[in-house]
Amino acid sequence: MVKISPSILSADLANLKEEVLKLEKGGADYIHLDVMDGIFVPNITFGAPLIKKLRPITQIPFDVHLMIDRPERYIKDFVEAGADLITIHAESTLHLHRTIEEVKSYGVRVGVALNPATPLGNIEYVLDYIDLVLIMTVNPGFGGQKFITSMKDKIKRMRKIIDERNLNILIQADGGIKLDNAKEIIDCGLDIIVVGSDIFKSNDVVERTKMFKNL
Ligand code: DX5
Ligand code: ZN
Repeated sequence: MVKISPSILSADLANLKEEVLKLEKGGADYIHLDVMDGIFVPNITFGAPLIKKLRPITQIPFDVHLMIDRPERYIKDFVEAGADLITIHAESTLHLHRTIEEVKSYGVRVGVALNPATPLGNIEYVLDYIDLVLIMTVNPGFGGQKFITSMKDKIKRMRKIIDERNLNILIQADGGIKLDNAKEIIDCGLDIIVVGSDIFKSNDVVERTKMFKNL
C-alpha cells in the first residue's frame, strides 16, 4: 500500500493548523514540508520556526524536504523543530555522505532527493546509508507543475536497483502527481507519493486525501 505525504505548499497558509488537521482526518501518513531558500530553487517558503510551531498540532511524522543550498548549515535546526525525516538534495551539498551522516547522528531518518536531470548514478555510493530516495518529478520550486513523463523510467530503474541490492530504502516521488495519473506512477515502484495542489485546490481536502489513500 502506497503512503501519502501531502505537501502544505499549496495550503491556505493563513490557516495552517486547520489544514494540517484536515490532512490528519483524511489519513495522511506524513506531512510534507517544502523548505525553499530562493537560491537552490527560485522561490522562498518557510523554515524551521514554522515547522516547530506546527509540531504540537499532530502526531503525524514530518517529512521535511530541504530545497536549500548547503543544507548542512541547518540540519540541527530542523531536527530541533521536530522533523522525523529530513530529505536533502544531492545537488545542494558538496559532501553528501557527510551530510547524510549528520542527519543520522541525531536519530532522524534521512532521504536524498534528485532533480529530474540528475542521474541515479550520483547516489550509487550512498545507497547503503540512506532511508529514502526522493525522485523529483518536476523541477523543484513550485507547486502545480506538470509531471515530467521520463521520470517514470527513473522510478522503475531505482526500484530495480533497490530490489537487486536488497536495500531497505523507500522510494518517494514529488511533483505533478494528481488523482488521474497517480496509479500509473505508483505502479512504477513507489512507496510514498507527495501531493500538493491536487489536494489543496480541491473543494474538500479531507475527502481528496482519502481518495489518494484508497488508490
Ligand atoms: C516542489 C515541491 C513539491 C510540491 C508538489 O518543489 O517539492 O512538494 O509542493 O506540489 P504539486 O503536487 O502541486 O506538484
Ligand atoms: Zn517537496
